[in-house]
This record gives sequence, C-alpha cells and structure tokens, in this order.
Amino acid sequence: MAQQQEEHQQQQEWVDRDATHLVHPLHNPAAHASARVWTGGEGAYLIDADGNRFIDCLSGLWNNTAGNGRHELADAASKQMREMGFASGYTGSTNPRAIELAERLADVTYPNINHFYLTSGGGESTDSNIKMARYYWKVKGKPEKTKVISRIWGYHGVTFAAMCATGIAPYWGMFEPRIPGFVHIPSPYPYLYEAPEGAESQGIAAADELEKKILEEGPETVAMFIAEPVQGAGGVIVPQDDYFPRIREICDKYEVLLVSDEVITGFGRTGKMFGLEHWGVQPDLIQFAKAVTSGYFPLGGIGISDEIADVMNQSGSPWMHAYTYSSHPVGCAVALAMLDIIERESFLEQARTKGQRLLVKLKEALADHPHVGDVRGLGMMCGVEFVKDKANKTLFDAGEAIGPKIHNETVKRGMFSRVRGDVYCVAPPIVTDENTLDQIPEILADATRAVLG
Ligand SMILES: Cc1ncc(COP(=O)(O)O)c(C=O)c1O
Repeated sequence: MAQQQEEHQQQQEWVDRDATHLVHPLHNPAAHASARVWTGGEGAYLIDADGNRFIDCLSGLWNNTAGNGRHELADAASKQMREMGFASGYTGSTNPRAIELAERLADVTYPNINHFYLTSGGGESTDSNIKMARYYWKVKGKPEKTKVISRIWGYHGVTFAAMCATGIAPYWGMFEPRIPGFVHIPSPYPYLYEAPEGAESQGIAAADELEKKILEEGPETVAMFIAEPVQGAGGVIVPQDDYFPRIREICDKYEVLLVSDEVITGFGRTGKMFGLEHWGVQPDLIQFAKAVTSGYFPLGGIGISDEIADVMNQSGSPWMHAYTYSSHPVGCAVALAMLDIIERESFLEQARTKGQRLLVKLKEALADHPHVGDVRGLGMMCGVEFVKDKANKTLFDAGEAIGPKIHNETVKRGMFSRVRGDVYCVAPPIVTDENTLDQIPEILADATRAVLG
C-alpha cells in the first residue's frame, strides 16, 4: 500500500512537472490534468508510472502494429546509429539503408508505384504530395491545375497545407484563413451518408460527389483528390465496395491525380499491405508513415507512380522540396527491420483473421445496445458509434461528451484509446493475442453500460 502511494505520488509529480514546461499536441491543460504518464510497454500493453497495465487499444496512435518491446527494431536502430547516425539525403548524397528501403517499398506497394521520397511523418508527406501534384501539372504544361479536393472527416495531418486538406473543421478555426483552393466533399460514411433519390448505389452517389465538385471548380483547376482508404481519425469509416473504383474512373476522366493517404492503412493494418488493394484500385501517389517503423522512429514518405517520376526526372529543373531528415539512415534501418517482421509474422493474415474476430465480438457485445448505432471495421481497424436515438440516427449533443465519458470508463477498466466525438476507435496492435483481443469488446460494453445504462 505504501509503495502504491509512493508510485502514485510519482505519477502526480510527473504530471505537475509536465504542466510547467511541456506543450502537447492538441494542448489542453484541463484535459491533461489526469494525463497518464507512460513509462513502459509490453506487446499490446502500455504501463503507466503507477505500474498499471492498459490494453493499447489504438496501438499508440494507430502506428505501433508490432507492439512494444521489439528488440529487432531497437537493434536495427542501434546498429545503424553506431555505424553512422546521420548523413544528408539531399541530391548529391545517399546511403545504403535508404536505397534498400526504396527497393523494398517498390516490391510491396502498388505495382505502378516504384519511386519514394522519405519524410519524418504523415503531415510532411501530405505536403510533399501536394507539392508533387502541383509540380507535376506545371511540368505537364497545366499550371492552373492546383486545387486539392479531400473529404469531410478526412485526416491528413496539421502542417499548414495538410491542415487545409484535413476535413475536420475544429482543426481550422483558430488558424484561419486557410490556403485558397482546398475544397471538401462529403465522406461516403455508409452509416450516415444519404444518397439522393434514384442513385445507383450509396457508394456510387458518394463517389459522384467528387465529379460534382470537380465540375463546380473547373476540371482545369483541380490537381488532386486525396483520400484515406479507410478514414481513421475521422471515425473509422469503411467505404462501400463500389466507392473507390468509381473514384478512380472520375479521376481518370478529369485528369485529377488520386492520392491514397495510407498513413494508417499502410503496412497491413486492414489485412492488405495497402488499403486500396481491397478494391483493386491503383492510386497515382501514396503516402505512408506510422506502421512503417511501428512508431519506433519518426519516418514517413510518399510513393510516386512511374508516370509521375518520369515527368519529374525529365523536367530539367530540381524539385525545390526537401527535409533535413529525408532518407534518415536510422529510420530506414528500422523500417527495413519492420518489413522483415511484417513478412516473417504474416501481419496481413494476422490482421485479417484477428480483425474479423474482433469485429464479430464487438457486434455481439454491443450491436444490440439501444445507443450503439453502428459497429464497423476492416482488419484491425474498428469503430463503435454511439447515438442518442438509434431508430432515426440522432446524434448526442456534443456537450454531453458521451464518447469521452465512455473512454474514461474504459480507462478505469484498463484500456486506452481515443474517440472521435461519439465514435470509439479500436485499433490494437496486430500482434495482440486472442485472449487480450477478446477483452476489448467486454471492456467497451461494460464501459458503455456504465455511461448509458
Ligand atoms: C491518414 C493520416 N494522414 C496523415 C496523418 C498525419 O500524420 P502525422 O501526425 O505524422 O503528421 C495522420 C495522423 O494520424 C493520419 O492518420
């Protein structure tokens, strides 16, 4: 008991020191007062400063698919740091790990994507793709093609251009004005999107929103459409099967580059190496981050089609875009070790079978609850949406904070994730064992009853 108190004091001491000097992503001192101080991790569990264990129900921030404590990743970083901690990746310099990683990425990404520019994360990758798309159209003699279309509930990061592409309005308000030429269309959101009367299908109608917007803006002004195969931070929105094939047709028809934001879906999370493989669609550009190193090193990047790379290589002018940490040898070494893990441990198969099990059990535990409107998912990426009135899909008032309350109850029961409003996100590490996996629906159902009866 005395030891427990001492440990608890330790946690409080950290939180107090934290408040004095540290500013956080989505900084909010009131919400942070009960922050957890994470001091350890084992597989699918996080351990706080009090020694409490929590199921890591969001794999950190969707990234840690291999779980904590992976010595292979630590060893790869350590070996590379000892050999060479850093060297420039700017034109005129390169390194073996970056070259090897680009080769491996060419093997595992879509067949037409064979060229890679590396970054430190997702937002930098969004900006890199926007700049790539604008540059491409300029070189092709269509400099007026600059606009970016994305979707409501899309999350593409919060660097300034990425923030403008992100379709979640609370990220904009305090930083307005946004960059002109960034426009949004509705999400295909199978649970809530209402197709117009007489539409061929809900998915086609949602995809046709893109055509409508391109025509409204003028096809000669639109550079790219960016979309996550499964919208993640926006609430795990899995599109209809006919959505992305139709999106591809529309992009081809109006010469709009299709950019697949695979920052969450890349490297196995959905049961395929990359998300659009589910629907047999090839994008023109991709972006990735997170699980490429299982979060052990901040690395991301974009993947470029052969056609775009040819245009780039023959342009005769340098692409004036660069990050100090592009092609970071340590990040690349960790990513190579991670690709070995994904292959050796059959991550795609694991995500597929465990994801199916998780979704079935979430439905069994929650679907009948009068305030559970929707239980959805693809692979190890699921969401449970709570509503006030199930019959007519009325949402709770934001002020009721149902999602955050349910999250608090799950924390009391040893599980940690994030919510988007009243959607509880479930995306544990791919390595989560079945026993732990089966606890997730039970804890969430219990927490739901505690808040909603
Ligand atoms: C789909 C997607 N794109 C981009 C980002 C931004 O990545 P980062 O936070 O590394 O900038 C995220 C982050 O969650 C994401 O989920």
